Amino acid sequence: MTSPSMQATACAQPNIALVKYWGKRDAALNLPAAGSLSITLAALHTRTHLRFDPALAQDEVVLNGRRESEHTRKIGGFLDLFRARARIETRARIESGNDFPTGAGLASSASGFAALAVAADGALALGLAKHELSMLARRGSGSAARSIFGGFVEMAAGDRDDGTDAFATPLLDAAAWPLEVVIAITTREQKATSSRDGMQASQRTSPYYRDWIATVPGDLATARDAVLARDFEKLAHVSEASCMAMHAVMLATRPALIYWNGATLACIQCIRSLQAEGTGVFFTIDAGPQVKAVCLPQAAARVADALRGIDGVEDVLASGLGEGARLETVSA
Ligand code: PMV
Repeated sequence: MTSPSMQATACAQPNIALVKYWGKRDAALNLPAAGSLSITLAALHTRTHLRFDPALAQDEVVLNGRRESEHTRKIGGFLDLFRARARIETRARIESGNDFPTGAGLASSASGFAALAVAADGALALGLAKHELSMLARRGSGSAARSIFGGFVEMAAGDRDDGTDAFATPLLDAAAWPLEVVIAITTREQKATSSRDGMQASQRTSPYYRDWIATVPGDLATARDAVLARDFEKLAHVSEASCMAMHAVMLATRPALIYWNGATLACIQCIRSLQAEGTGVFFTIDAGPQVKAVCLPQAAARVADALRGIDGVEDVLASGLGEGARLETVSA
């Protein structure tokens, strides 16, 4: 089917969910309990080089220049999905780097698994369709399914047991509604509880979990309409509501999952006062303490200045909306 020693490099960008994903209907296949809607960022990148090499006895993973053992099993298991399709057993060396902090709530797993899926497809010459790549990326991390596409993206929960209907589709191109995202970095430390573990704990113990899942389809429909109509205010309301409902579920998890720090709350308050003055901005926060402020383009500079002035904000990054995961090079 393909010659061994094939290699490829792919690039992918993280995405930020506006309608959040927090809960699975099947942990083994990583199937989400509800859909989600996201924007893919332009300014943050994961670049992954993958080489299948018959001389290797086992998979090797180098993340941000450091040899990894912690993630090798998971990444090897993910690559097995591609090896099975190519009917090979050849081990691989994976070198992946992020130009942003890893594991601190900036969706590095989304761009990481999206880049690896595209690189594996390229290196093994599988020629998979985008929705298949999205489905496979999902197996690495639920949010990675969305980073296969650029701009505004919707992830379907699906209802088939085998997960063949749980993949993302593009909703609107980045250029069609060029929003800006300002990210306030409030710590560079890795988070204490991964999304995967946190989600499972919420599902098991949070008394609000069922109600949370029941709100998602309505929020998704509202957000989808808002995106297609480019209605910023409508998107702002539903996105903040989805974010806060997810964090309420996290807080009610036993023991509580508190992903925020003091500066996270200060950023929320700052964004609320900017909104009161009529600035086009809203906030969203994932399983980490960073605050993502989604802005109309004319508001981005003012929002960045305001967030930069907050005690505890270590850095501020700005990004437009970007492209989906793509192959950069393939060689023998
Ligand atoms: O795909 P995961 O396992 O990294 O989970 C993502 C969870 C959130 O970032 C909190 C929400 C989301 O939809 O991205």
